[in-house]
Amino acid sequence: MQEIYKDFSRPVSERVQDILSKMTIEEKIGQMMQISFANVSREEAEEWVTKRFAGSFLHTLGEDSRWLQDLASQTRLSIPIIFGIDAIHGHALYNGATVFPSQLAMSCSWNEKLVEEAGRVTAREVAADGLHWTFSPVLCIGRDLRWGRINETFGEDPYLIGIFAAAIIRGYQGKSLSDSDSILACAKHYLGYGESTGGRDSYDTQASIRKVREVFLPPFREAVKAGCATFMAGYQSIDGTPVSASKKLLRDILKEELGFKGFVVTDWNNTGSLIINQKVCGNMADASRKAIEAGNDMIMSTNEFYDAAVELVKTGVVSEALVDEAVRRILSIKFAMGLFEKKNTTSKSHAFACPEHIETNLKLTRESIVLLKNENNTLPLGSNVKNIAVIGPNADCIKAQFGDWTFFSHPVPNPDAIPKIPVHTMLKGIEELSSSKGIHVFYHKGCDIMNAAEESIAEAVNCASAADVVIAVVGDCLDQNGEGKDRADLNISGAQQKLLEKLRSCGKPLIVVLVNGKPLSVPWIAQNADAVIETFNSGMLGGKALAEVLFGEVNPSGKLTISFPYHSGQLPVYYNLLPGWHGNKYMDMPEKPLYPFGYGLSYTSFKYSNLILSKTRCSASDTIVASVDVTNIGKLDGKEIVQLYANDVVSSVVTPIKELKGFKKVEIKAGETKTVQIPLEISQLAICNENEQYVVEPGEFLIMVGPDSRDEMLLKASLTVE
Ligand code: BGC
Repeated sequence: MQEIYKDFSRPVSERVQDILSKMTIEEKIGQMMQISFANVSREEAEEWVTKRFAGSFLHTLGEDSRWLQDLASQTRLSIPIIFGIDAIHGHALYNGATVFPSQLAMSCSWNEKLVEEAGRVTAREVAADGLHWTFSPVLCIGRDLRWGRINETFGEDPYLIGIFAAAIIRGYQGKSLSDSDSILACAKHYLGYGESTGGRDSYDTQASIRKVREVFLPPFREAVKAGCATFMAGYQSIDGTPVSASKKLLRDILKEELGFKGFVVTDWNNTGSLIINQKVCGNMADASRKAIEAGNDMIMSTNEFYDAAVELVKTGVVSEALVDEAVRRILSIKFAMGLFEKKNTTSKSHAFACPEHIETNLKLTRESIVLLKNENNTLPLGSNVKNIAVIGPNADCIKAQFGDWTFFSHPVPNPDAIPKIPVHTMLKGIEELSSSKGIHVFYHKGCDIMNAAEESIAEAVNCASAADVVIAVVGDCLDQNGEGKDRADLNISGAQQKLLEKLRSCGKPLIVVLVNGKPLSVPWIAQNADAVIETFNSGMLGGKALAEVLFGEVNPSGKLTISFPYHSGQLPVYYNLLPGWHGNKYMDMPEKPLYPFGYGLSYTSFKYSNLILSKTRCSASDTIVASVDVTNIGKLDGKEIVQLYANDVVSSVVTPIKELKGFKKVEIKAGETKTVQIPLEISQLAICNENEQYVVEPGEFLIMVGPDSRDEMLLKASLTVE
C-alpha cells in the first residue's frame, strides 16, 4: 500500500504527521539545516544530503541544484531539498536573468501592481532555474541613511512598505504555492535590523517594545496577512536580546499573536553569532538550544548546529516536540509546494529575460525615476539641443547602476563579469535615443568615485564646453553599498564635487542624474543644477528609461519614498518624526530635509482642491472615504500620486506629526480634473499604548491630502472618532 506521505491526494497535515512518525532524530535535525553551497566542497555537499539529510541549500544555481535534488531522492525517505536564493531585484545572481531596479528604486513608482508583476517575473525566472525560494522582500525601515543596506528597503514608511510587501509576496507566491512558477517569499529581516544604532550593520537596535510594535512590526504583519511562507530573523539584537534568541519576538509575537504559519530561517550563522559576536552563549550546545527554544525553524549556515542539536534532543535537554514543530512547519511547505511530486526539476531557460519580462521591467523602471528639480523647464530637452555632453563616473557603469545582489557581487564576487543580458547604461540609453534624433553625444568619465584624483576633469570640461547641454551622471558605487558598507559621510565622494563645480562654470545648462544606492547629501546639486533626476539603482534598463524621460517621451511620475538629508549629521530626517521640543532641529542645519518623503515633480502640474470626508464623525469600526479634486493644470498628460496622511491630535502617548495612511496613483490628462477617492479604515488610526495594546483613541484626527508630505502642500480636514 502507498505510504500516506507519498499520497498527494491526502491533506498536507496528514502527510506531515505520517512522515514525522517515520523520521529519526538525525533526519529531523537534517531538515532544519540550510547549507551554503558556496562554502562547502562538492564532497561535503554530497555528504550533507546523503548522510545528514540537509533540508535546504542556499546559493545553488541550475545544474547543481538538480544534482543535489537527485541525491536527496535516493535517501531513505526521499525528502526533497528546498533551494533558496537572494533574488532581491530579479533573479540577478544568475547572469542572464532580468535585473530589476532595487527595492528602493521600485518603491518610488508607488505602483503596487507593477511591483507585484516584478515579483511574478522574478518567480518565473527563479523557478525556471529549479529553485524554490527567494530571500525577499526586505521589510526593514530605511531611516538611518548611513546604513549600507538602504538600497534594499522600500523606503522609510511602515505603511507603504507593508503595501509593497503584500504586492511582491503575491507576485512571488502566485495563486498557489503548488504552481510550477510560484516560489516562496521570505519577509526579512525580522525585526528592527534596519535601525541598528548609528546605522552600523548588525549592531544592537535600541528600541522599546512600543516602538518595535508601532514602527517595525506593521510591514511584517502585512506580510503574514499576505500569506508569506517564510520569515528571516535579523542578525542584530534589540535592546540586548539577539533576535534569534528572542522567544518573545519569534514565538510570542510572530507565531502566536500574528498567527504566522510558515517557517522561520535564521540569517547567516545567527546561531554561531550568539557565541562569536553577541556573546550570549558560551558554546554551540547552548546556542543551538537557545535558537530552537526561541522559535527558529531552519538554521542558515551554522553547520555545527547539526551535531549539537542531535545531542541536545538525545540527552533530553531540548524536547523532541520543539524540533517536531520546526520540522512540521518546513515539511508542510515542501508538501504544499508539491516538491514531493518532483515539481520543477528541468531548466526552462527560455524564461530568462524574455521579451515579456523585459517589458514589465521597462514599465517599472520608467515609473521609478524621480524628477527632483526642473528650473525654467530645462527638461524635457527641446529641439534646439543638437549636442549633448554626458559626463561622470556613473554614466557608463553598469555595476553602480545595478547596485547590490547581482552576479557582480554575490555569492562569490565577480566584478569583471560580462552581462549576458542586454543592458542600457545611462550613456547607452541617451546615445540610442539621441542618434534616432540626429543629436551628437560626447562622453567623458570625468573622475572616479573612490579616488579623489582630478587629472581628467579638465578634459571632461572641454568635452562639456562643446555641447548645448551637460548631463552629469554622479552618485555612489557598489563599494559604498551593501552589508558591511555603512557610511558615516553621505557626500558624493572622490572628485565628483569638483567635477560638478567645473561643469557648472562652463555656463551650459547642467542636468544632474543621480545613480546611487540611497539618498546622498547633495545640497550643492540641489542649489546649482538646473535639473536633477534621481534613479537610484535602476537595473538593466535604467538608461533606456532615463533617456525617455530626458527627451519627454515619458513624463516622470515617481516620488521619493525616503527623505534626503542636507548632511549626515542632520539624521534622522524621516517625515513621520514625533513632535519634539525646540522644533527637532540642529542650530547649524535647516529644520527640513533637502527633499522630503513623497516628493517628486512632473513635466505637468497638479492642483488640489475640495477635500471632503464621507463622514466627519465616526466610530472605530468605520471606513470613511476622503475625496479630493486633482486638476492637471499643465499642458501634458501625467500621473500623480495622491497621498493621504493622518495625525492624532491628542493621544495618550506621543504620536508622529503625520503618517501616511493611503495613496492613489492616477493618470490625469492635460486640463482634466479627477475626483480621487482614498478609503481610510478607522482601525488604521490605532496606536500602541503604554500597555502594548492597539487602540483607536477617541477624539479628533487631522486628515491631510496632497502631493507630498510637506505641511504647506496638504489640504486638511478634521475627523472625530467617538
Ligand atoms: C543577509 C541576508 C541574506 C543572506 C543569504 C545575509 O548576509 O543578511 O539578507 O538573505 O545573507 O545570502
